Amino acid sequence: MSPRAFVIGWPIAHSRSPLIHTYWLRQLGLAGSYERIPVAPPDLSAFLANLEESGFVGGNVTLPHKEKAFAACAVASPVAQRLKAVNTLWIEDGKLFGDNTDVAGFLASLDEDIPGWDKSVHKAVVLGAGGAARGIVFGLISRGIAGIVIVNRTRARGEDLQRQFPEAAIELADYAALPEVLEEADLLVNTSSLGMVGQPPLEIDLAPLPSGAIVADIVYAPLETALLRQAAARGLRTSGGLGMLLHQAAPGFARWFGKVPQVTAELRALVAADIADKC
Ligand SMILES: NC(=O)c1ccc[n+]([C@@H]2O[C@H](COP(=O)([O-])OP(=O)(O)OC[C@H]3O[C@@H](n4cnc5c(N)ncnc54)[C@H](OP(=O)(O)O)[C@@H]3O)[C@@H](O)[C@H]2O)c1
Repeated sequence: MSPRAFVIGWPIAHSRSPLIHTYWLRQLGLAGSYERIPVAPPDLSAFLANLEESGFVGGNVTLPHKEKAFAACAVASPVAQRLKAVNTLWIEDGKLFGDNTDVAGFLASLDEDIPGWDKSVHKAVVLGAGGAARGIVFGLISRGIAGIVIVNRTRARGEDLQRQFPEAAIELADYAALPEVLEEADLLVNTSSLGMVGQPPLEIDLAPLPSGAIVADIVYAPLETALLRQAAARGLRTSGGLGMLLHQAAPGFARWFGKVPQVTAELRALVAADIADKC
């Protein structure tokens, strides 16, 4: 029987994962399928408990299931253990394994867009302190970025992140303090949902950023956010959210279907067209 994988979430209709994995299956000439499955929160435990019986080799997990799916794993990767959340599941020796590939996806995307970026970044400013921010902060720490400032509307969530990464000297700041905070930043990353289609705009003036700074936005709909447009207009180096979305998908595909896929220009164009179509 050819391997079956899934993406589960609630809601899940918006997910681009089927487009990505189906492209790779076709491109690599592999037998297999990747299905989008809506799973309501009360049904998650039963879904995960019956994975093997249902004929699945594994799949992706998105909001709001990442933490509960982590708790259901018999074995979690070191990254997943740190983040207490998974986005990738697979069955091995009859046991449920989990990993969090958002961190690797974010880093691979920045590496691709701005090779060697981490050598010039000493201070990073992270907007947002939600689920995605946790992975981004961990990724920055793993690359040796010593100074991290978190700017979030709800201070308590920033404090949670501080507690979660006691090995890093994470500072907190309010949006009102951004002009001063940006003056010293080598990297600005938006991990908040501001600027995403259907969400409020991210209103921020990038003028105080040093001219060598990098601006990354993990929001991928729209493909070019107002933040990235403003950064490009100032001549700053930029990295958008599409690369993270594509790169986080690759490790799961390799586990389920047995071949390491490539993030090709053709795949980028395919997913970009789908996003542009719906924005
Ligand atoms: N490129 C990728 O592969 C990728 C992967 C994951 C996520 N993302 C994107 O990242 C974004 C965040 O995802 P998430 O999972 O971290 O969501 P989340 O856990 O719900 O966190 C949302 C964050 O946005 C902030 N926020 C929301 N509305 C706000 C407002 N009106 N004013 C100020 N701050 C506001 C929240 O602040 P509070 O704490 O104050 O509520 C929080 O920090 C989404 O746009 C998502 O699509 C992209």
